[in-house]
Amino acid sequence: MIVTTKKLFEAAYGKYAIGAYNINNLEQTMGLFRGCLDSQAPFIIQISKGARSYTDSKMLEGLIRSAEQVFPEAVFAVHLDHGDEETCYDCIKSGFYSSVMIDASGLPFDQNIATTRRVVEAAHARGIVVEAELGMLGGVEEHVAVSEANAKLTDPNQAKAFVERSGCDSLAVAIGTSHGAYKFSGSQALRLDVLAEIQKCLPDFPLVMHGSSSVPQDEVARINAAGGQMKGAKGVDPTQFKPAAVLGVTKVNIDTDGRLVWTRVHREYFKEHPENFDLRPIGKVFMAEYARFIAEKNNYLGSAGHLPEVRKIVS
Ligand code: 13P
Repeated sequence: MIVTTKKLFEAAYGKYAIGAYNINNLEQTMGLFRGCLDSQAPFIIQISKGARSYTDSKMLEGLIRSAEQVFPEAVFAVHLDHGDEETCYDCIKSGFYSSVMIDASGLPFDQNIATTRRVVEAAHARGIVVEAELGMLGGVEEHVAVSEANAKLTDPNQAKAFVERSGCDSLAVAIGTSHGAYKFSGSQALRLDVLAEIQKCLPDFPLVMHGSSSVPQDEVARINAAGGQMKGAKGVDPTQFKPAAVLGVTKVNIDTDGRLVWTRVHREYFKEHPENFDLRPIGKVFMAEYARFIAEKNNYLGSAGHLPEVRKIVS
C-alpha cells in the first residue's frame, strides 16, 4: 500500500526512523520489499532523477506497482529524491509519487523558501507531501555535487522561519554527514548537538538525515579483496540512528550502502565463477543479499517490527 511519508512520520516521530532506500532496477526492488517484509518494517522508496532516466521513469513505476501486488502486506511511500522544480512538477502530475523532495538548498535563503513554497502549493493541491532542504551536505549524489568547503550545517535559528514560510512537511538538515562513500574527512563529524538545537526550534516536526550510509568496513574490505579500489571509504555509525530518531529524525536516506552490496556481490561472484555468463544466478544472490542488508538496516533504524501497527493506522 502506497502512503504519504507524513503518515509514516506521524507513527514514527521520536521513536524510530524510517529507512529511505534508493532503487534503480528489478533486483533492488525485489530485495527491498523482501527485506522490509522479513523485518516487518514500513519503508520509503526513493527515486532519484538519475534512476528515472536510467531506463524510463515508467519502467520503475511499473516495477513498483507490480511489487505492490506481489507483496500486498507492504506499507511504503514513493518519494522523489533531490528533485529540481521541474522534476517535482512532473512527479506531482504523474499521480504515482506520494512525496517529493525539492532541493533548492543551493539557492539563497529567500529563494529557497520561494521555490519550496511553489512546489508545496502544487503538491498539497494533489495530496502529496514535500521535503525541503536547509543547509548543504557535502559529497556527490548524482547531479548534486557539493565540495566539503561549500558544505554548510543547518542553522537552527533559520529552520523555524524556513518551515513556517515554505510550508514544507519535513526538513532535510545538514548535520555533518555527506553523500557518497567517503564521509567525515578532516574535522567533520556527526553533529547530534546541532540536531538537538534544531529540534528545540522545531519540536514535533519531522527531520530528515541525508548521507546516512554506514559504508561497512567489512564490505569495503571484501570489495577491495575482490579487485575493487575503495581506499579510505567510511560512513555513519549506524548505532547513531536511534539517538537521532529521538531528536526528531524520522527519515534516514541510504543509497551508497546498497551500491556497495551490489559491487561486493558481483565482484566476488565473478572472481569465484570466471566461467559464468548467466545473469540469473548472480541476480538471485544479489536479491537475497540486498534483502538481508535492508532487514539489518531496519533493525538499526528501529523501524523493524512496526509494520503491523502502521498497517492498522493507515488502513
Ligand atoms: P548516502 O550516499 O550516504 O547513501 O546518502 C544517500 C542520500 O542521502 C540520498 O538522498
